[in-house]
Amino acid sequence: MVHMKKEIVDEIEGIVGRERYSTDTADLYVYGFDASIHHKTPDIVVRPTTTAQVSDIVKLANKTLTPIVPRGAGTAMCGHTVPLKGGIILDLTAMNKIKELRIEDLYCVVEPGVVYDALNSELGKRGFWFPTTPGSAEACTIGGMVATNASGMRAIKYGATRDYVLGLEVVLPTGEVIHTGTRTLKNSSGYQLDRLMVGSEGTLGVITEVTLRFAVKPRASAMTLAAFNSLVDAGQCVSNIIAKPLLPSAIELMDSVTIQAVNKCMNVGLPDCEAICMIEVDGHPAAVEEEMKVVEEIARKSGAFSTEASSDKKRISEWTQARKAILPSLSRYGEKYVSVALADDMSVPISRIPEAVEAFQKIAEANGVIVGTYGHSADGNLHTKMLVEPYSEESWKAGERAVGQIYDKVLELGGTVTGEHGVSITKAPYMQKERRDSLGAMRAIKRALDPNDIMNPGKIFDWEGSIISHLRYPAFTEGGCSCSQTCDQG
Ligand code: LAC
Ligand code: ZN
Repeated sequence: MVHMKKEIVDEIEGIVGRERYSTDTADLYVYGFDASIHHKTPDIVVRPTTTAQVSDIVKLANKTLTPIVPRGAGTAMCGHTVPLKGGIILDLTAMNKIKELRIEDLYCVVEPGVVYDALNSELGKRGFWFPTTPGSAEACTIGGMVATNASGMRAIKYGATRDYVLGLEVVLPTGEVIHTGTRTLKNSSGYQLDRLMVGSEGTLGVITEVTLRFAVKPRASAMTLAAFNSLVDAGQCVSNIIAKPLLPSAIELMDSVTIQAVNKCMNVGLPDCEAICMIEVDGHPAAVEEEMKVVEEIARKSGAFSTEASSDKKRISEWTQARKAILPSLSRYGEKYVSVALADDMSVPISRIPEAVEAFQKIAEANGVIVGTYGHSADGNLHTKMLVEPYSEESWKAGERAVGQIYDKVLELGGTVTGEHGVSITKAPYMQKERRDSLGAMRAIKRALDPNDIMNPGKIFDWEGSIISHLRYPAFTEGGCSCSQTCDQG
């Protein structure tokens, strides 16, 4: 059923043509999801191919007060591309050209729909890479990465998306097209508006072009898998390595819940223990060899009962695949559970990891929920995936209670509620606590740039109430979803 006024649909057809939009029920339903727990059906999906089309659509949305939500691959985990108030989904995946690759200038210019792995495959041919390594590398788009300041396993050494954005082309909520930043590696020219746009989650405009710097690819890398009988010892091992000093390119921590889940689904035979660390170092081959010895020594001294070091690509790939399989494997941990993104990507100062992981375990036990803790521990970024029974209201409520306590602990430890996934809906109440004294400034910026509140409305600082609403799961209480706000489930 089309809810949108025919005149608006007609104008959209005039801008992009009949083939580049859809109001089919099935399309609208599918575009109501991302990788979060939320769902809401849009009124129309539009797939523009040029900045001029994006600008015309945004002008139309602004004139008709129609909500508009930019979307890349839909891999966001907190509801970023779920159109809370209906309206237009702007699918930018057709804008997927690498426009310039300036190797000698160390930058490239890409459209927002370019996929992370596709860009790296082009850069890799020339000995370079964009090293942020998000978990969804095969699918996620550069535009989405910029919109959320995404990162991943290698942020300790290589930083997050923010550190690579030199400039942006943005269609503001009025339809005006602006260019922020430069094509130079240094720039002190006025307000750094590209920094403001990075992580703005589609609330301040539509990113239509990205100028990215890139890095030289390391010549060698190797990995050590260290196994521990204590999660706290594994956490301590991380700060011991950093404080040595030694800069690893990644340290992936896995607790016993995530180890068991992966071992159940894949035949990699991870050590069945309380925790493992996969410690990667990269650089010049001679340095890698030397650092691997130091890593093993520190891991043993920190309490590892076994270590296996490898520079064999096949072995490393097995471990990396096991690590990447955590997310899908957790949903098979127990028959009645699904793994959901609730409190799922906090960051704490590195030395507070042992306290954090111990507290998360206690909070999970106290609330009767199962939490799988893992993550990019080298930079203090942890994932706590919660297993809930999707049709049990009590299970969701217990999960929500645990989330509140987990985030209180994270803030007490000097951390942040989101290290790499962003805020949108799922993190909103907790981010509002964390950023209490700057919410006014954020709202002032939003109102100045988007006075009609058309861009991805109702999220981040504007979200109110429980996050257990607009759920993607079929009604878990008789008579429909019990959420306090209007949602698709009645
Ligand atoms: C990961 C995603 C969830 O690291 O960020 O698995
Ligand atoms: Zn991650």
